[in-house]
Amino acid sequence: MKKVLGLLLCLVSAATLAQQKVAPDDLNSEFHKERRTELRAKMPNNSVAIFFANPVRNRANDVYYIYHQDPNFYYLTGHKEPHGVLLIFKDEQKIDGEKLDEILFVRGRDALKELYDGPRLGKDGAAEKLDVQVAFENPDFEAFNIDFSKFDKVLFYDFHNDVRNTKEEGDLYDLIEQFKEKAGYKQGELAIEPQKNNLDVVALDTLMRELRGIKTKEELDLVRKAVDISTIGQVEVMKAMRPGMSEAEIQGIHEFVFKKYGAEYEGYPSIVGAGNHGCILHYIDNYKPAIEDGELILMDLGAEYHGYTADVTRTIPVNGKFTKEQKLIYDLVYEAQQAAADTCKAGIPFTVLYETTREIVNNGLVELGLYESTADEDVINPETGRNRYYPHGCCHHIGLDVHDKGMYGNLEENMTITIEPGIYIMDGSPADEKWWGIPVRIEDDYLITKDGCELLSDKAPRKSDEIERMMKEESIFTDYQLPELKSGE
Ligand code: GLY
Ligand code: MN
Ligand code: MN
Repeated sequence: MKKVLGLLLCLVSAATLAQQKVAPDDLNSEFHKERRTELRAKMPNNSVAIFFANPVRNRANDVYYIYHQDPNFYYLTGHKEPHGVLLIFKDEQKIDGEKLDEILFVRGRDALKELYDGPRLGKDGAAEKLDVQVAFENPDFEAFNIDFSKFDKVLFYDFHNDVRNTKEEGDLYDLIEQFKEKAGYKQGELAIEPQKNNLDVVALDTLMRELRGIKTKEELDLVRKAVDISTIGQVEVMKAMRPGMSEAEIQGIHEFVFKKYGAEYEGYPSIVGAGNHGCILHYIDNYKPAIEDGELILMDLGAEYHGYTADVTRTIPVNGKFTKEQKLIYDLVYEAQQAAADTCKAGIPFTVLYETTREIVNNGLVELGLYESTADEDVINPETGRNRYYPHGCCHHIGLDVHDKGMYGNLEENMTITIEPGIYIMDGSPADEKWWGIPVRIEDDYLITKDGCELLSDKAPRKSDEIERMMKEESIFTDYQLPELKSGE
């Protein structure tokens, strides 16, 4: 190990380093380094925290799902490659004669693999570009001389046993197995007792929630951009929408806009559901070939920009005009959302937001005759145990995850959250038939401030009349014609 460390500390020429593409507005190594410093400050005395990269997922044969880094690992390193482990020490350690408080193990360079999959940072690139104190190659982890028993706390996330052994030396599978061996981890033991001996698989999550739940200025810039892009997608679809379009086509317009503005991914699988499909909370099939005149379409999509994702839902009438019943339900959801937004400010308990929306929705549905009363026996669906027409929560953090890590006690300044009440009335529900097939969710993204909250997703209209007005505007997609497909005739 000494030899490896010596080699590492030699400066290498930048010309020999892999050139990973970094956009000018991406988070820089200073940001990630500061996050490590903040975590270190929060860690208990004489502790070490260990983070693993996300696994690579096989799609079929030799094809893999697009790789997405584990958000904690990314937050703390900026490293986007698979197969790696990060160790953060509370106190400086003397390892093989060198003093250090963090170590990153990464994939080594490999000319043939890089020919297919693109450049790797390697250990020298990682040390320089990510500005970690020391970086090694993954196969060195096995011989890495560390005595985990000397720490009062060894903090890590428990394993899900969902990592494939690729048989490559030092892959994620090996790193995890080697860590278990070094740390005295026994399979299943921590599932029963999550803090056993000096091993702890619960405390780290709280520390990460405390950190990630409060956004820095750099993070807010990226969240704002992701939200802006997502709202422009909603606006373009409002203008382009007409009966006969398919759900997938609508999804395509949103995602085209995302890519056009440089969003690398969707923050989660896009939800585009017309009529009853919109009542399926996480409907991602998006297969309806022709959306019918008179239907509502619920569109819940978020662009992911440099790691940060928006989460915006708009529900619009396919033909540009809400029916009487659709408008009554829509305006009720809007009222609930706006009331929650009006209560939002630092110091307010998170639970107040949901309670505010639930009360307005339940009372409103009684007034409209969909519930007899607001008593549980009239409101709760015994089959699901949830509120019959508003069966989900209303708020969560957004950031590196769509359901981002954060604390759910009181709201704090610089949290970024959603408020997303909804009412979903499936065909066949106990309500009068005139309400059937109406799904409404309105979901917006907010920045919590000292005295209130800032609506970040204000570029997409939210009120029913504003949506109708926007839907009258000319669309760039109106004259967008592709040749007719003749194949298979
Ligand atoms: N898009 C998932 C959610 O709204 O929470
Ligand atoms: Mn959401
Ligand atoms: Mn959503």
